[in-house]
Amino acid sequence: MKREIIQTLDGSTTIHLTDWDECYHSKHGAIQEAQHVFIKNGLSLFQNKSISILEIGFGTGLNAFITVLQGKKMNQVIDYVGVEAYPISASEVLSMNYVEQLNANSARAIFEKMHESNWEEKIIISDDFTLMKRKQFFETIDDENRFDLIYFDAFGYRVQPELWSTAIFKKMFNSLKANGVLVTYAARGVVKRSMIEVGFTVEKLAGPPGKREMFRAIKK
Ligand SMILES: C[S@@+](CC[C@H](N)C(=O)[O-])C[C@H]1O[C@@H](n2cnc3c(N)ncnc32)[C@H](O)[C@@H]1O
Repeated sequence: MKREIIQTLDGSTTIHLTDWDECYHSKHGAIQEAQHVFIKNGLSLFQNKSISILEIGFGTGLNAFITVLQGKKMNQVIDYVGVEAYPISASEVLSMNYVEQLNANSARAIFEKMHESNWEEKIIISDDFTLMKRKQFFETIDDENRFDLIYFDAFGYRVQPELWSTAIFKKMFNSLKANGVLVTYAARGVVKRSMIEVGFTVEKLAGPPGKREMFRAIKK
C-alpha cells in the first residue's frame, strides 16, 4: 500500500496510507491525540504503580515513547507489550519527529532502542520500563488476565471494521486483569455496543482536539 509521511496540525508527523486515506494518528495532532487518549485518560489512572500495558498497533512507537517519558514523571514501573503485524521501515522511523516535538533529546537513544530492538524479546529500555514487541496479528492474541491497561489504537472502523468486532474485544477483555482499563480514540455506537456485549462497562469521555468523544472501557 502506498505510504507518505505527513505533518499533523500540532507539528508532529504521522504516516498516511493513501489508498485508504487513513493515518496512523489524528491529523489534528498526533502527539496531542496520544497525550489525551492514552496518557491522560489511561496511563494517569495508575500513578505510583507497577503496571502491564498492551498496545494494539505498535506502529511508529509514539505511544510507547510517550509512555516511557510520562511513566517516569508518574513514578510507574511499566511492562509494555506492543503488538504489530506490519512493522514500519527504518527510513520511516527516521522520518518521525517525535523526539524533537516532545523536546526529548536526552531520550533519543530510548526511541531508537525501541525500534532497533528484536521482536519477541523482552528488552530493558530503562530502569523502570521493559518492552516486548510481538510481531503478530491481533486476531491471534490469547493472553489471559495479564494486562492492567490496553491502548486500543487500530486503524479506524471505516477501513478495518473487523478489528472493532466482538471477537476482538472478547480477546481484549480476556487479556485484562479484573478492573483493567481499555482506552481508544473511537466513539462510534457500533464499537460501544461490541464492547458492552463482551462484558465491558463503557464511559464516553471528551475526545482529543478535533474529535468530540472517545471511549474508556473497564473490566469490572
Ligand atoms: C493506527 S496504527 C497504530 C499507531 C501506533 N499506535 C503509533 O503510535 O504509531 C494501526 C496499526 O495496526 C497495524 N495493524 C493493522 N492490522 C493489523 C492486524 N490485523 N494485526 C496486527 N497489526 C495490525 C498497522 O500496521 C498499524 O501499525
